[in-house]
Amino acid sequence: MGSSATAGPVVLGIESSCDETGAGLVRNGHLLGHAVASSMDEHARFGGVVPEIAARAHVHALGPVVRRALDEAGLRLGDIGAVAVTTGPGLSGALQVGLAGAKGLAYALGVPLYGVHHLAGHVAADTLEHGPLPDPCVVLIVSGGHTSLLLVRDLARDPVAHLGDTLDDAAGECFDKVARVFGLPYPGGPAVDRAARAGSPDAVAFPRPLTGPGDDPYAFSFSGLKTAAARWAEGHRGRELPVADGAAALQEAVADVLTRKAVAACTAHGVTTLVVVGGVAANSRVRALAEERCRAAGITLRVPPLGLCTDNGAMIAAVGDLLVRAGAPPAPLDVSVDPSAPLEYAALHPVATATVARAA
Ligand code: KG4
Ligand code: ZN
Repeated sequence: MGSSATAGPVVLGIESSCDETGAGLVRNGHLLGHAVASSMDEHARFGGVVPEIAARAHVHALGPVVRRALDEAGLRLGDIGAVAVTTGPGLSGALQVGLAGAKGLAYALGVPLYGVHHLAGHVAADTLEHGPLPDPCVVLIVSGGHTSLLLVRDLARDPVAHLGDTLDDAAGECFDKVARVFGLPYPGGPAVDRAARAGSPDAVAFPRPLTGPGDDPYAFSFSGLKTAAARWAEGHRGRELPVADGAAALQEAVADVLTRKAVAACTAHGVTTLVVVGGVAANSRVRALAEERCRAAGITLRVPPLGLCTDNGAMIAAVGDLLVRAGAPPAPLDVSVDPSAPLEYAALHPVATATVARAA
């Protein structure tokens, strides 16, 4: 199971891989408090996250966010018994700000430090709402940078098996890029979701990539869908673009492909629980279609609450809490960031020295 019986310390989790600065406090699988600050508004006029702006915003936000999380939990710095921090993947400068802050706190408090894989954080987010994950479960991770179908056993101890990943764009990236072409604001996912409410999902027959009989059943591809949506928009040049219909049809195509493959993975592996996590799990159509198809297939669907789907510190604290209670070794204080780390294990402890080979 994802948690053992021993009582653990209060774990502070710090997240700074992209444009959200998050701090969360978790003990024994329970969320005690968390706070998030976002630099999203500062990136909006550039149409995407600017790494230097994100890193600087983390410098300003980190202290106050940790303070707010402690206040919400009714705790003080001295109550923290371990610190967990995202060491990758993500933007290098942004990750380094969170890691430096986490090292400083762990060192000053004399408590262990754990490096955490960002995507393991997304997986663990659901445990804060719905309890320990069943072993095994299938997890669909859908965020701005990743789209993967995983077979997860004990998150703190076992390697994570990738059933399939995206070959090109992530689902959230597809929403963000098409939204831009449609003239919708950044970030595109929530904007498409809102616009789609007034549209018809059948208005445009967008493709369902990699769903043919000879295709890899669990791999994803969204760049062709993105191009199809851009072409459709170009075809309206000089006329008013029916954005609501385009948004509804795009959202339907993404939701259809994601949920079809996720349910097929559960059925093929005899797994009865599907967990859908990451920013795109906030999408209303993805949630509704996943629910419908899981019910029809006798699969239990778990989706974290909206506030825990997008990046936050609570999810990193949740992984730290699992690692501590599983007796995992802490990170050395010269742990570094790994901006492009693949998800193999929940603990991610790359060592700073270039001459030291990465642990297998
Ligand atoms: O997990 P996340 O907060 O950050 C990453 O690790 O990438 O995910 C952000 C992604 C963005 O692409 C955003 O557009 C998308 O999640 N997103 C949504 C919705 N809310 C956020 N996509 C579709 N519908 C939504 N409601
Ligand atoms: Zn994320």
